[in-house]
Parts: sequence; C-alpha cells; structure tokens
Amino acid sequence: MEEAKIRELISQMTLEEKAGLCSGEDFWHLKHIDRLGIPRVQVSDGPHGLRKQDESGGADHLGLNESIPAVCFPAGCAAAASFDPELLEQMGEALGEECQAENISTILGPAMNIKRSPLCGRNFEYYSEDPLLASAIASGLVSGIQSKNVGACPKHFLANSQETRRMSASSNIDERTLREIYLRGFEGVVKSARPWTMMCSYNRINGVYASENRTYLTEILRNEWGFDGYVMSDWGAVNERVPGLKAGLDLEMPSSGGERDREIVKAVQNGTLDETVLDEACRRILRIIFRYAENRDESAKFQYRDDHKLAQKVEENCIVLLKNEGDLLPLQKGQKVALLGTYAQKPRYQGGGSSHIHSWKVTSALDALRGKLDFTYAPGFVDGQDETDAALLQEAVSQAQAADVAVIFAGLPDSFESEGYDRTHLHMPACQDALIEAVAAVQPNTVVVLHNGAPVEMPWLSKVKAVLEAYLGGQAVGGAEAAVLLGDVNPSGRLPETFPQRLEDTPCYLTFAPHGDEVDYREGVFVGYRYYESKHMPVLFPFGFGLSYTTFAYSDLKLSAPQIDDTDTLTVSVCVRNTGDRQGKEVVQLYVAPPKDGHVVRPVRELRAFQKVDLAPGQTVEVQFALDARAFSYWDTDTHAWRVETGTYTVEIGKNAHDIELLAPVTVQSTAKPKPFSRNSTAGDILRTPRGQEVLGALLKARMQSRVTTEDSAVSEQMQQGMLEAMPLRAMRMLVPDFSEKDLDALLASLNA
Ligand code: BGC
Repeated sequence: MEEAKIRELISQMTLEEKAGLCSGEDFWHLKHIDRLGIPRVQVSDGPHGLRKQDESGGADHLGLNESIPAVCFPAGCAAAASFDPELLEQMGEALGEECQAENISTILGPAMNIKRSPLCGRNFEYYSEDPLLASAIASGLVSGIQSKNVGACPKHFLANSQETRRMSASSNIDERTLREIYLRGFEGVVKSARPWTMMCSYNRINGVYASENRTYLTEILRNEWGFDGYVMSDWGAVNERVPGLKAGLDLEMPSSGGERDREIVKAVQNGTLDETVLDEACRRILRIIFRYAENRDESAKFQYRDDHKLAQKVEENCIVLLKNEGDLLPLQKGQKVALLGTYAQKPRYQGGGSSHIHSWKVTSALDALRGKLDFTYAPGFVDGQDETDAALLQEAVSQAQAADVAVIFAGLPDSFESEGYDRTHLHMPACQDALIEAVAAVQPNTVVVLHNGAPVEMPWLSKVKAVLEAYLGGQAVGGAEAAVLLGDVNPSGRLPETFPQRLEDTPCYLTFAPHGDEVDYREGVFVGYRYYESKHMPVLFPFGFGLSYTTFAYSDLKLSAPQIDDTDTLTVSVCVRNTGDRQGKEVVQLYVAPPKDGHVVRPVRELRAFQKVDLAPGQTVEVQFALDARAFSYWDTDTHAWRVETGTYTVEIGKNAHDIELLAPVTVQSTAKPKPFSRNSTAGDILRTPRGQEVLGALLKARMQSRVTTEDSAVSEQMQQGMLEAMPLRAMRMLVPDFSEKDLDALLASLNA
C-alpha cells in the first residue's frame, strides 16, 4: 500500500484504535479494524517449520496445545553447519509457501543469537559463535521466506545468549564487543535481506530492557542500518509500554488484554506521549500488514511430501563428518551392520520450546536403511535416562560383536537441552557413553552418529573409528543419515561452533549464567574460535571443521594488490581441487589476521568470507572473494566508528579456524583522519607516525640530554629506549631540559596541524 494511503488510514483511526494496533489481539493475531479494511493477520513460530496453533484448540505460547501438522526442517544448529546460504534460501522459500498456504503473515525466525557458551539451552535454535556465518545463513532464510511475500522475523535482538533468568538478566557488554560480535549478525541480515519485522529479546542490555532500548531499536537498527519494518516484542518482553513505544518497540506480543493500550491512550491524553510517535508505529505495522495482505497467494499449497524431501536434502548438506579413521565410512556392500541406540529408531531431531514442530512424519535411520543394508537393531539405552539398563546394553554389545560394523545413534535427550534453561555440563547421558565404550571394546569398527543441539564431550573419541554429527536434523534426519552412511551423499557440513575439550576451557566459563541478573561478558570479542585460536588452546574440533569422503587441495592464492587503502576492494582468488575419487563439497574459508605489530588487541584471525563449492573428482575451481574495509576493521570506541589500523594483514585460506592452508600478506592504509595527539600521547606512539618523526624526532635529536651508558650503568640503552617510548609529552621535560608548557602547546599544534 502506498505511504499516502497508509497515512490517510491512520488519520481515520481513533486514538484507541491506534493504541490497539500496537498490541496483539490474542497470542498470535494482530488486531483488525473492519470499518477501515485493516485485515486480521496471524504470526507463527518458527523458525525451522510452522508451529501454527489452531484457534479451536486455544492458543498458548508454550506449545502445550497441539499445533497443526507441519514439516520440521533441520534446526538452526544443523542448518548453519551447511555453510550454504543458498540452501537456506530454498528452505525459506518452502517455509514462505507453507505460510501462504496456512495464511500466516510472518514466521517468527530466524533465531540468530550468538553462541557465547555451548551451555545456552537454546543453542540448538541458533546458528553460530561467528556473526558473519550467522548473518549469512539468516540472510538466506529471510530472503527465501520473503520471496513468497511473507515476513521473516530475526530474533532475539539483542544479546540473548543465555536462558537463565532470560526475562530479567542484563547482558553487560562493552561497545566494541557489541559492535563486532553481538550486533554484527543482525546488522548483516538487516542490510542484506531487509527483514519485514524484528523481535526484541527479553533481556536487558547494559541495564536497559531490549524492549525499551532506544540505542538499539532506533538509533542503530533504524537510523544506522536502515531497517524499515516493525519491531515486535518477544512474548511478554515488554517492561513499561509507553517508554517502549518511544524507544522504537512498535508491537507488543501477545495481547495485554487492553491494559497497555489504555496506558498508551492515557499518555497521549496527558501529553507524556507525542501522538506522532504512536502514528509512526502504526504506519510501520500497517505497511507490513498490507504488504502481506495485498500479496496473498490463495493458490499456495502446503507441499508436505516435497518439503519432507527438501528437509532431507538440507540435512544431507549439514551432517558433519568428524572422524573417519581408515575410511570406515561409507559402509561397504555386504557388511553386516549392528544399528544400535534408541535414536536409530526414534531420532532426536528437534528441540523443546516455542520452536517445537508437530511433525507430520518422521523418518528414522532404521526406516531409511531397511532393504538397503544387512542390519540388526538394538536400542542399547533408554532415551531420557542417565543410568545404564544392563540388559539393553548386553543385547547391543552382543549384536556389535556379531557384526562387521557397529553404528551407534546417540546424543542428547530432550531433558538435557531446551528453551527455558541452560545446561550445566557438556556430558552425554552416562548410559550412552557406557554403551559406546562397551561396544567399541568388542567392535573395532564402531561409528557414532550424534543427535544434539550443541557440543558434547566425547570421552570415547579415540576408541571409535568414525563420528558423524547430525545435530538436530529435522524430521527427515534418518533419510539423510542413511544417505551419508551408504555413501549416496558425501558429507559436507562444517562445524559452525568450536567443540571444546572441557567446559572449563570455554571463554566465558567464569561468567556465563551467574546466579544473579548481572551477566558480564568479560571475554569481550574473544568468543568461540576467536578465543581458542588466540590462546593456542587445543580443542576437540575447531570451528569450521568437517571431513569428506574425498580430499581437497588448495593452490594459487592471489590478491589483486599487495597494498590497498581502506576505500579499495581487495579481490582474493584461490584454487581448490578435488584430489580424491568422489564428488564432494568443500567449504573454502577466508580468515583475516591483524597486523603483528598492531596496537589494537584483536583475535588472531576472524572469518571474513566463505564459499561452498561442489567438485567432481579431479575438478579444480577458482574461488573469488571481494574484501572491503570491513574485513580489516575493528570498532573504534574513541570515534565510535569502524576503523582500519594501518598495517600488514594476512589473508588466510583455511579448512577450518585452526588449519590454515595458504596465506598472503596485504598492507592496508587507513584514510581516516588520524586521531589528534594530546599532552598524554606517548613519544613512542608519536614517533611511529611520519609527522611525529619529523617534528618530535627532530626535537629530540637536537635537544635531548645525551646519557652515556656504560656496561655496569643503571640505565641500559634498552631501558632508555623503553622509557622514551612510554613517555607522555607532558613529561618531556625529563628528557629535554627547559621544555616548557608553552613549548608543549607549540609542539602539539605542529603535530596536529
Ligand atoms: C520465544 C520466542 C517465540 C515466542 C512465541 C518466546 O518464548 O522466546 O522465540 O517466538 O515465545 O512463541
């Protein structure tokens, strides 16, 4: 609808109607105004399938009532492992089509909070510890959904990286970390995919509720990034309604039973709320309502079968091969296989909470392997239970012993990870670890297939030959697992997060989810691999890791120039060759390492681009990346802007965040205005600049008292040098006799000229 018409509509709305439009009618609907032709639209969870609750059943946001049967796609944890935004776009298109078929105007996803700790109960829904990957995956999904004229809703904005006390905790984060890590994913999705809506989170950010945080909802999201949709609250996230509206929160969800609407009306009447603020919120909401309503696709059909197939295809691209000693996988024809573990028959394929889908169908590995493999099956453990069932264990071990290969389907039970609470450890249930140990003791060819939403410890890793990480792979997970086990699909997933060796190794081990509400993000920008790599710490599996049934070789890394400035774009090209005898997909990862002599404390490398390529045996492709200033920038808290530090960076091509295959230097010159020197600038910092050399260097040479150092003198040359380096201008008198305040002013004027 044209802007003028929307304004016209708003002018015809009563104050009560306008206030009413800014909160839900019930749990899932926005209000409608029949006399003005404003239709009633519905939103629905999200994010990896439709959780549309039928009105007849009475809505409840905890998912206690059944939702309609739908297709459960791989959850965020798995989807991100595809490293394939185009695939996510296809998944988004299917979701958008399903929404049109079910008359859903907006689907509540993607959920894209940063995985600060592997403990966050909701990590299974989220994408990554890295904001670039999170934003690329989210952008794919959003573009796909919105191509069907249905709104997407990235959530939960902002810094909602734990479930503990999620409605009251304050994520206390410094400005640079917010910009480089926690805002960056959202920035990427807003700028590249232009989501129609956005959901603010429950928590506070540096003390201020996300739902009334003007800095993020208005200044950054809208004024800086150009977001032009409406912001809705997470369900029940509103603290004070009128301050929220003023801060940029347009829609409160779900309904407040009219109470908050009355608060808004009262605030306008008593002059504490400018009516234009309310009008603006209505304008944003109406634009999106009509964008959907005017583009309804009545012919859309929920394609259950096709979408189930697509869910399998997505998962086939997500499964990560973590270990494959002696090429045990894929399984060979004629092998007798013992399929063990309850999840072979009843896979865990999604997480609990608001994203829980009422799956129309579930394919287990047993279903998918029937008729394709000579196998026996034993459950081995009871799902949801920690203690070993001796009889089940014994039966599984016997089957393993009688087979050529054992494949154990293990992972985390629902009770171990969910929305609403965080984990406190990284263990799998004891009965599952015991099963793996016992089977591996009798069967040298043991494979473990994991179903979990977040990293687990693997005390048995050295005793098994192969491990597949299936994550929470959606309702078609068994089909995808079968395809990978049989070699019909070559695994190509890569870990979107680090698997640490121990919980104690994690960057925020000391400060994650404390008992109180103040959550200090003390690790700063050192989240995930940014921390482990910078500390040279061993991990179980690094970020970006994943094997294949084939091998790849890298060569010919080329940069478009050895030296650029920060207004240029650097083109990077590299060749990748499939050196094995099977078709396979490789994820080429480009990291940038900061200057070795840089003055900004930075991670040793950061992911700046990636591309997934599909290669036939023997085939070589040249992959190209374009890097702009952002790839070299950090957030400068003096100027409150992105800034490139002049220096020599290293462009690294890696198989993952740890294994760098090729590297090349590039010198990047900043064109930003140099920061002015002050009386507290040190001689060292000044002398590092050409102007400083010219002005201060000359002065020191001419007037510095020379000190003679002898072999046993108290002042070594190094010490003298060190002291000079660290000497602020105001103390220059100690080196230059008669250096007055007036000289200091003159020197500064000349330096800053
Ligand atoms: C969750 C959201 C979800 C909403 C509606 C909240 O508890 O945090 O992600 O969209 O409920 O179900």
